Amino acid sequence: MANIVEEIKQPINEEMKLFEQKFYESMQSKVALLDKVTRFIVTTKGKQMRPMFVFLCAKLVGEVNEKTYRGASMIELIHTATLVHDDVVDESFKRRNFFSINALWKNKIAVLVGDFLLSKAVLLSTDHKDYDLLSVISRTIREMSEGELLQLEKARKLDITEDVYYEIIRQKTATLIAACCEIGALSNDADENLAKKMMEFGTYTGMAFQIKDDLFDYLSSNFIGKPVGIDIKEQKMTLPLIHSLKIASETERKYFFNTIKRYNNDQKRVKELIAFVKSSGGLDYAIQVMKDFQQKAKNILNEFPDSEVRKSLHMMLDYVIERKF
Ligand code: IPE
Ligand code: IPE
Ligand code: MG
Ligand code: MG
Repeated sequence: MANIVEEIKQPINEEMKLFEQKFYESMQSKVALLDKVTRFIVTTKGKQMRPMFVFLCAKLVGEVNEKTYRGASMIELIHTATLVHDDVVDESFKRRNFFSINALWKNKIAVLVGDFLLSKAVLLSTDHKDYDLLSVISRTIREMSEGELLQLEKARKLDITEDVYYEIIRQKTATLIAACCEIGALSNDADENLAKKMMEFGTYTGMAFQIKDDLFDYLSSNFIGKPVGIDIKEQKMTLPLIHSLKIASETERKYFFNTIKRYNNDQKRVKELIAFVKSSGGLDYAIQVMKDFQQKAKNILNEFPDSEVRKSLHMMLDYVIERKF
């Protein structure tokens, strides 16, 4: 896997190195506590797939310039902020194989650090009069909050359908990846049609990305950096479960609804539910849908002339669905 990532990064190696430094600078503050937390954030950095999308998409349609770097930092700032907030919302104490910010510094600090990071993203755009990027990231932040709230609402009522699930993951995850691709294009003054096409490419990619993330919850591995079965504990119904419940018998459905509602903390009941989703084809179904989204993204990519960068993006799409964490 590590080799694949190295290969993907080949055309943007220099850019990713410079990005690290610029991203860190974009978070700096005179408040000592904030500085401590942001230092922790950069030392436990993630896969940085979003900045990779920004740079690769910029190169697909043109070149990487200063505006591309600012766009990549804005995106990673928003991504980091939403993860910090998400772990508060989900009461999750693990992130990137380490403790989450809320686990280490408690909710109050996590909420405020997330706000600070969001403000930094917005300021980075206004300070440089990148108003087109400001409009993209403002819309993205709005959609992501709406997506998380829609998910919370559905987790309370457990009345989620497949279509609502797609709407949730489009909002909470795919919009940010769509923004990466759109920003890559906008940093090259792409026309509206091209920017739209890149956005569509990112949306399909993001849909596949979140389905993969949701599949992790059913596959035990201590490698993914967060606990297995946590979605069920949170009553978060994702595609494999939605599908399995749809094709289940009335008795099974009642029984498993009860598991999610009342016994989501009962290890034995949760294990049973996971086994049911596996045996009734819920995982296979979700894998198929994920691959369909991936294919749609690949089709858009194939409209561009072949190049090193296009190859990297194809590999990136394979990595999205084959990654181990
Ligand atoms: C996690 O995204 C949040 C989701 C949208 C599922 P990543 O898996 O890209 O997180 P990091 O940045 O690599 O930790
Ligand atoms: C990820 O959502 C956070 C956002 C997309 C805002 P999840 O709660 O599904 O993802 P993980 O599993 O915590 O990374
Ligand atoms: Mg979460
Ligand atoms: Mg969440």
